[in-house]
Amino acid sequence: MTNKTAPQIRAMRQSEQKIAMVTAYDYPTGVLASRAGADIILVGDSLGMVILGYEDTLKVTMADMIHHCKAVARGADGPLTVGDMPFMSYQISTEQAVQNAGRFIQEGGMDAVKLEGAGFTDRVHAIAKSGIPVMGHLGLTPQSVKAFGGFKVQGKTLNAARKLLEDALKLEDAGVFSIVLEGIPAELAEMVTGALHVPTIGIGAGAACTGQVLVFHDLLAIPGIAPFQFVRTFAEAGSVMEEGLQEFVSAVRNGNFPEHCHSTHLSEPVKQALQKEVVRKCM
Ligand code: KIV
Repeated sequence: MTNKTAPQIRAMRQSEQKIAMVTAYDYPTGVLASRAGADIILVGDSLGMVILGYEDTLKVTMADMIHHCKAVARGADGPLTVGDMPFMSYQISTEQAVQNAGRFIQEGGMDAVKLEGAGFTDRVHAIAKSGIPVMGHLGLTPQSVKAFGGFKVQGKTLNAARKLLEDALKLEDAGVFSIVLEGIPAELAEMVTGALHVPTIGIGAGAACTGQVLVFHDLLAIPGIAPFQFVRTFAEAGSVMEEGLQEFVSAVRNGNFPEHCHSTHLSEPVKQALQKEVVRKCM
């Protein structure tokens, strides 16, 4: 199957189709998200938290991202794949931003990139101009967690809400094909969505966005970090995994695993010949 394209995702705004986006970080999660029929797979820098165990996303490097993108690209079949540009991969210069965006395509096998905030619209423009589709990301952008003083909902005051709306329009002008709206009031997300021609994809931003995204491990309750208020648990996969692991450990301990069917066996003549040799050697 060929992957969806950025123009196809963009067109979903006009045709009022809901977009389902999910994060993935390796081959199996890429396969599962594809089989589930997701429109977009995001290889999020959230991998710093849910895969690498950091307390935020700031330590994630280009090397981490490319490593995980390669694995997801091998498993993804159908959804548009988006690589998340990590902290300091696009802030330093436009040239470096374009170079790093190019690595996501050439080395990581991604179809598009995402970057946070509206402070770097020149980078967005330059990356898009080089032929790489760019997704924007506004609101509670995790790479600014230190500037926000924690993972706090954004856009709650009139000024902040006005600024977010202006930023969304700036990003659209710069050439993004969609914008993630994270951790903002539902009413603001609805107004921003109404003001744009490109789709919005919400996470903790209410139901009026064109689409929704959740982190793979959050929606399946795979342990690692505390789930946020905006997450719904769609399956208790973490508990199922833990139960399975506990059963394995006790089956090994009490000798119930492996059984006869889990091993390959020598033919009777080979077994008997070998047994004779072993007996001779031990005498
Ligand atoms: O890194 C990530 O997973 C994200 C999504 C939560 C939008 O940016």
